[in-house]
Amino acid sequence: MDRYAKAFVKASLIYLGIGAITGLLMVAHPDLRYLLTRVHTHINLLGFMAMMVYGVGYHILPRFMGRPVYSHRLGNLQVWLANISLIGLSMSWIFEATIGGVWHTLAILFALVHGVSIFFFIINLWMSMSPMKSSTS
Ligand code: HEM
Ligand code: HEM
Repeated sequence: MDRYAKAFVKASLIYLGIGAITGLLMVAHPDLRYLLTRVHTHINLLGFMAMMVYGVGYHILPRFMGRPVYSHRLGNLQVWLANISLIGLSMSWIFEATIGGVWHTLAILFALVHGVSIFFFIINLWMSMSPMKSSTS
């Protein structure tokens, strides 16, 4: 398994843990929903679900097609961008709700970076599936 695929699966499991903890916190202390719902949602969906899909997808899909991943470099870069920006976005949302100020701008910045990381995955898998020049099919 490529290093970045494994990193995505490991990160995904950590986010599942954080998602479960934030969920349980909100069940126990409903007042925290104001602060944590959006973080919980995106840690679970962008962290756990999406990163599991990235990791398993990078490993399995090219093998199904009998082709290598288009760019390992893009895969490695995506791991860093996706994780730094998801953690940054989550922290920014919490501090935006408590302190405000610059945290709103930081949230926008991290959201943009996360968007870029999503497009890296789209491009990388898309290119891995496009017909090879030497192929007849
Ligand atoms: C121990 C596990 C979990 C607990 C205790 C839990 C708890 C909660 C609670 C209390 C809320 C409501 C927050 C609110 O009303 O503002 C919530 C919302 C949500 N949770 Fe979880 N959750 C858990 C795991 C998950 C997982 C694994 C996922 C996704 C893979 C998930 C996805 C969501 C989503 C998308 C929402 C927002 C729904 C909406 O817009 O109303 N949760 N969760
Ligand atoms: C760059 C990526 C993303 C950004 C910046 C983002 C941002 C946001 C924001 C700002 C909200 C809040 C809306 C509100 O408070 O009324 C929201 C809600 C939501 N998003 Fe995302 N989103 C992203 C990707 C995704 C993805 C990929 C999914 C699903 C796989 C998703 C699922 C949801 C859900 C279920 C809600 C409603 C529940 C909630 O209020 O937390 N988001 N998103």
